Parts: sequence; structure tokens; C-alpha cells
Amino acid sequence: MPTKPKSAGQLISFEGSEGSGKSTQITRLAEHLQQAGREVVATREPGGTEIGEQIRSIIVHNSKGDEMCPETELLLFTAARAQVVREVIAPALKRGAVVLSDRYLDSSTVYQGIARNLASGPVSAINRFAVGEVMPHLTIVIDVPTEVSLARIRRRASGLPDRMERENIAFYTKVREGYLLLAKEWPERVIVVDGTLSPDAIDKKIWAEVQKRFG
Ligand code: TYD
Repeated sequence: MPTKPKSAGQLISFEGSEGSGKSTQITRLAEHLQQAGREVVATREPGGTEIGEQIRSIIVHNSKGDEMCPETELLLFTAARAQVVREVIAPALKRGAVVLSDRYLDSSTVYQGIARNLASGPVSAINRFAVGEVMPHLTIVIDVPTEVSLARIRRRASGLPDRMERENIAFYTKVREGYLLLAKEWPERVIVVDGTLSPDAIDKKIWAEVQKRFG
């Protein structure tokens, strides 16, 4: 895998299944960092740039119709990522900002690689090509049992429509297990936070970890 970027800023990615509570925690961490005087740039995947949003709309549109093959999914997600890295993330890191990314390359490893069974070699090579040297300094996986994330997603109307509904429990169990596997493989970079705790408790743990590493 690529080495850590030699830059003044930090890239922190948030990962986890749908309904894990990533966006709430990204907002909270952004507030802590801003109060501490840091510039914060938040990006989301897929999207975060004009081109990325167009790619996102292809994926969203498709989720209402025919099945998109996993190879196409991988290439579209990583295409959007390649754009946001060069247009937003790398310049922000150079300025010394903290970049908070709602999903990053681990989403492709887990969703397209592990859950959709694409071979890990090509997934890793394509991911690496897309991000170049820009690897996260820290990745926070918010872990929730599949039933909890399914129940939460059914209560909200946003996100990629119908996607969660179309997938079965087995798929999201693979997603969850995939993230836990990544955390074992990259213990320095990837931490797992229990997403069934209260939002305040999760927030405290994440902020403590960020201060410990970058404070
Ligand atoms: P979105 O509604 O933005 O979800 P969330 O709030 O869960 O982040 O949808 C993102 C969806 O795209 C989600 O189902 C995960 C999937 N995805 C991949 O399959 N591969 C990827 O590389 C990325 C970035 C996302």
C-alpha cells in the first residue's frame, strides 16, 4: 500500500456500514477541531466534487434499475475518489488542514472487494492508482451490528435510495466483518469504535484518539 503523505495536514477517514452514525460524528469532530483552531475540510464519497457528484448520480440512478456489475461499481467509486484526492484533499493537506472524509478507499476494499467478491489484488491496485500517495493517517470504523444498522436505515429517507433494502443481511454482515478484518490488518491506521454507544460517548472516544495522535 502507499506510504503516508508527507504533508502538513492530516487525513482522517470514517468508515462503517450504512446507519453507523458516521455523519453525526464527522460533524462533531469538525467542531472540536475548529474550536482548537484547525482548518477542517469535510468531503464525502462518492461525491465531494462536481465530477464526483455526476458519478454519484450514475450510481444513484442505477440503484433504482438494473444491477450494476461490481467491476463497474469499483471503477466508478475509484474514479470519483481520484478526482476528490487531486481537487480537494491533496491541496487541503498541503495547506495544513485536517480533512475528514466520509468513506475513502477502504469502502471499495470492503464493499466491492470483500462483500461483492472481487479479487483483492486488482481492487488494491486500482485503489492505489486512484489515491496515489494520499493515504489516511487515521481511519475510524464505527461498528454496529447488521440488525441495528438495518433498523436505523429504514427510519431515514436519505442516502442512496433502495440500496440497503435490496441487499440481504448476509451482504452487510460481510461488510461489517470486512471492516473488522481491515482493522486487524492495519492496527496502526484503523481503529474500531463501538457504534451502539451513545453519540456523546462515541464523540469522546474519537476526540481523545485524535488528540492523542495529532494534538
Ligand atoms: P451513501 O448514501 O452516501 O451512504 P452512507 O451514508 O452509508 O455513507 O451511499 C454510499 C453507498 O455507496 C454505501 O452503500 C456504500 C457504497 N460505497 C461502495 O460500495 N464503495 C465505495 O467505494 C464507496 C465510497 C461507497
